[in-house]
Amino acid sequence: MLGLDIGTSAVKAIAVDSAGQVSAAVSVPLSLDTPEPGWAEQQPDDWWQASVAAIRQIVERRPGAIEAIGVTGQMHSSVFLDRSGLVIRPALLWCDGRTRSECLEIEQRIGGEDRLASLTGNPALEGFTLPKVLWLRHHEPAAFHRLATILLPKDFVRYRLTGDLATEPSDASGTLMFDPAAGQWSAEVCAALGLAPSLLPNIGRSADILGRVSSAAASVTGLRAGTPVVGGGADNACGALGVGAIRPGQVVASWGTSGTILAPTSAPVVDPNLRVHTFCHVIPETWYLMGVVLSAGAAWSWYRDRFAPDLAGLADSDARLTAEAATVPAGALGVTFLPYLQGERTPHRDTAARGGFFGLTLAHSRAHLSRAVLEGIAFALKDSLELIRELGGSPAEVLLTGGGAKSPFIRQLEAAIFGLPVRATNREEGPAYGAALLAAVGIGWYPDCAGAVSASVTHQPALTAAPEECRGYLDPYRRFRAGYQRSRWTPNA
Ligand code: XUL
Repeated sequence: MLGLDIGTSAVKAIAVDSAGQVSAAVSVPLSLDTPEPGWAEQQPDDWWQASVAAIRQIVERRPGAIEAIGVTGQMHSSVFLDRSGLVIRPALLWCDGRTRSECLEIEQRIGGEDRLASLTGNPALEGFTLPKVLWLRHHEPAAFHRLATILLPKDFVRYRLTGDLATEPSDASGTLMFDPAAGQWSAEVCAALGLAPSLLPNIGRSADILGRVSSAAASVTGLRAGTPVVGGGADNACGALGVGAIRPGQVVASWGTSGTILAPTSAPVVDPNLRVHTFCHVIPETWYLMGVVLSAGAAWSWYRDRFAPDLAGLADSDARLTAEAATVPAGALGVTFLPYLQGERTPHRDTAARGGFFGLTLAHSRAHLSRAVLEGIAFALKDSLELIRELGGSPAEVLLTGGGAKSPFIRQLEAAIFGLPVRATNREEGPAYGAALLAAVGIGWYPDCAGAVSASVTHQPALTAAPEECRGYLDPYRRFRAGYQRSRWTPNA
């Protein structure tokens, strides 16, 4: 199986064998354009070029071995295609905050936030796809006039691999044009916003074969023409599947470019205050609640690249900086970091939230700042965990995934700040692994996702924090909570 993840910081490809073992893994880095503060764009063609490079390397290592492909990737980001299938402009990403007025327009046209939530399970948030479509209509009318198809990132890569336009429920749920309870596009939303339903691709299931590698794609990637490509899924859903989080009662914390807390549910539960999202899982008849920290790993990399130039280029720069953080006590001697570098989604729903350090004195060193950054990211995740708890989820433990979860220090920090046992798994590949499992289900290696998980995912022993260690973070968390209002960006203030 080939699992392909169109991330924000990289395209990752893995080959998974019939025993569920990863036999090859490749990562091709991507860059992010921020033309203005709060904006974020990438070129879909860069995703495709990086995918081709990653797949070629996998095929060279495992010649002739790939039997099926599962795709996953960043959610919400808007790929705009014209009638010939050409990309019209760079994609506006999930962490792009330019569409506040389009969100207000959506609410007005639909008849209020409650009506919108009853149709889509979610409020209008800048990161979702629909406001980006309206932004194109307002700001680039000539480009909008050419618009023939709206795709999500992984669906764009499948389109380039197969020539077929399609999506599946887990990614469609993040567009704000989809009804997660009915499992189909919302005709009412499209009509209210004056968007032709033909702009949206057909919806298959995540483990269904939705296309086959074309001879053109075969010649550039080295894959066999005709190789099946399944629907795949949103990166958060595939990340959850990849660590075995497919049942209500489980909770996953992901520490990737974004950070998320995800809890599967057996019905499309909607937060009455709309602070967390309601999306379809990649498993039929399963949904999930999710809180999103827009800058988790992104805040860490931003900090590392600007504050630790001495570590630039070292393969273990993250580990070294984390080791520095570990030399100072919990609470970073009063330093607080807010990771709101692109505004914040959960719990604030606020593109004007801003990042910051508070509480600095002459006594502080880089080690304190490093620790404060890691703690600030974990506190932001805790905010989402508290909302999931409030909505009735009472997890006994938290499963960990994402790059941050590879660090023993961060795992322990999460256990202490969440105040719950945390558990890593044998799978550290993230969403790409879940995508590969969907491909395996799609061609009948496993009867279903539950079978795929029980054959391939094992959980490591739980890691707990002592009560006094957990208590040590209560005051720092209060400081963190108090910081948000002070950090908001207000023009001319
Ligand atoms: C989820 C979200 C992010 C992206 C990251 O709603 O916006 O987690 O999926 O790739």
